[in-house]
This record gives sequence, structure tokens and C-alpha cells, in this order.
Amino acid sequence: MSSGPRAACLMGWPAKHSKAPIIHGYWLRKHGIDGDYRLEEIPPEDFPAFIADLPGHGYVGGNVTLPHKIVALERSEPDDRARAIGAANTLWLEDGVLRSTNTDGEGFYANLDLTLPGWDADLSTAVVFGAGGASRALVYGLLERGAERIWVVNRTLSQAEALRDDFGPRVHPATWEQVPRLLAEARFIANATSLGMTGKADMDWDLSPARDDAVVADVVYTPLETSLLATARARGLRTADGLGMLLHQAVRGFSLWFGVMPEVTVEQRKLVEDALLK
Ligand code: ATR
Repeated sequence: MSSGPRAACLMGWPAKHSKAPIIHGYWLRKHGIDGDYRLEEIPPEDFPAFIADLPGHGYVGGNVTLPHKIVALERSEPDDRARAIGAANTLWLEDGVLRSTNTDGEGFYANLDLTLPGWDADLSTAVVFGAGGASRALVYGLLERGAERIWVVNRTLSQAEALRDDFGPRVHPATWEQVPRLLAEARFIANATSLGMTGKADMDWDLSPARDDAVVADVVYTPLETSLLATARARGLRTADGLGMLLHQAVRGFSLWFGVMPEVTVEQRKLVEDALLK
């Protein structure tokens, strides 16, 4: 272990856009911890060697983002959750062993618990758009929460079928053509695609068939109010945005690296919102 303050980092390629230093820097200051959180841009070919010697680079652990999440899983000792999701976003050292987990799902649902209490009162039918890494984290978390039937809607149906194969028969693959009928059933609707993200494709969302008590959540946080969330609000539905997930998924890493369980605050969210608007 290198001497000096404890430090963690975000490992990505690229990584410069990340708001993680704002999130963790806020908690370091708030708790008076002599620590640091930095960005590390690491090309894919260098990533395995980098995480094989985190202390040599001055780190006790870190977050992992694109495109390293799968290699992070393969080159560490993952917990059951990361293994099931197939990707790791948080690394830490425990007795010299590099461990990993995936906090995307827990962050997503922690945010819902806080901002939309009762969101999970009826999980008999849920709809999740997308079947990539974010969707796997959300679906895994929904199953943990006891969801009975989860419709996984994806353009490439085979990807949704892979989720059913991995997570079991409570997962039901579906196509976009089925969405109007599915919306009429679901009390929980989540977008885990990149649809609506700044610079990416979007959809002409029609939530008119949705239940009046449906809750709509998005993993996308640029823009903060995606067209899906705007459509849901106009329809009078309760919503949760992707920034809440981003903040809450950071909690566990911070506690593992710095030994303090932090809380997401309104003030912290504002700091990240302001940075996103720059
Ligand atoms: P992540 O790890 O963030 O989930 P990903 O694995 O690349 O990213 O997954 C992106 C998701 O957005 C996928 O479900 C993708 O659908 P496909 O599997 O059919 O590619 C979905 N997606 C991206 N662009 C889309 C578009 N224009 N229309 C419909 N779905 C789209």
C-alpha cells in the first residue's frame, strides 16, 4: 500500500466526462476525510495490469465504467450479484484480494425507495426497456424485490431471451410492438436503453395505455428530464430520473474505500446537476 491519503478512482476510457469526483469529493469533504477520488483514463489493453496492482497506482479501490466492466468482473473475485449481472462497477481490496460488485441495481432502487416510497407496492407486472448491462442490473434487482413478471422489451429479441435464460421464467422477452398491451398491465416501467440520451436516438413515447398508478423511471440522466419522463409527467405519472441512480450507486464504493457510510443529499445532487448543465 502506498503511503499518503487513501484514494479511489474512476477507471474508464474515456473518463473525463464523469461526475464521480464531484459525488465522492462532496462526501470526503462532508466527513472530513483526508482522501482523494480521481479519474483514470485507461486504454483497454492496459486495464488488466492496472487493476492487478491498484495499490501500486495509489488506490484502495475504485469504480469501473465503459468499456471495462466485464474485464473488471473477470479479473477480480466478484460477489453473486456482479456475477449474475455479468459486469462489475465497484472494486476494492480485502485482505489483499481484489473484490468486485455491481451497485447499479441497488442504486436504482435505493433512489426509488427514497423518492417514490411505495413504488414497489405492486410488482406483479413490471416492464423494463432494454436488455444490455443496465437492464441486467435493473432486472436482477427487481427479481430480488419479488417482482412476479418482468417484461423485458428489446429491439434485439435474442438479448431479452438471454436475460430469461440467465434469470429464469419470471423474465418474459418482448418486442416493442407489444408495449401498448404491456403498459396497460404494469405498475412499474423502467427505461434501461440509451433512448433519449443526449446525442442518441429517441422514441415517440406513448404512455396513454399506462395505468394511472404506474411509476416510470429512467437510467438516462443527460438530459435530466428525458422525453420518456416528460411524457410520463404530462400523463400525471410518478417518475424518478437517472441522476438519483447515479448518486445512490456510489454509496457502497465510498463506504468500502473510506470506511464511512455516506448519505446522498439535496445539496450534493445540486452540485452534480450544475456540473451537468455546464
Ligand atoms: P448499457 O450497458 O448501458 O445497458 P448496452 O449494453 O449497449 O448499454 O445496451 C443498450 C440498450 O439500448 C440495448 O437494449 C439496445 O437494444 P439492442 O440490444 O437491440 O441493441 C438499446 N438501444 C440502443 N439504441 C436503441 C434504439 N435506437 N432503438 C431501440 N433500442 C436501442
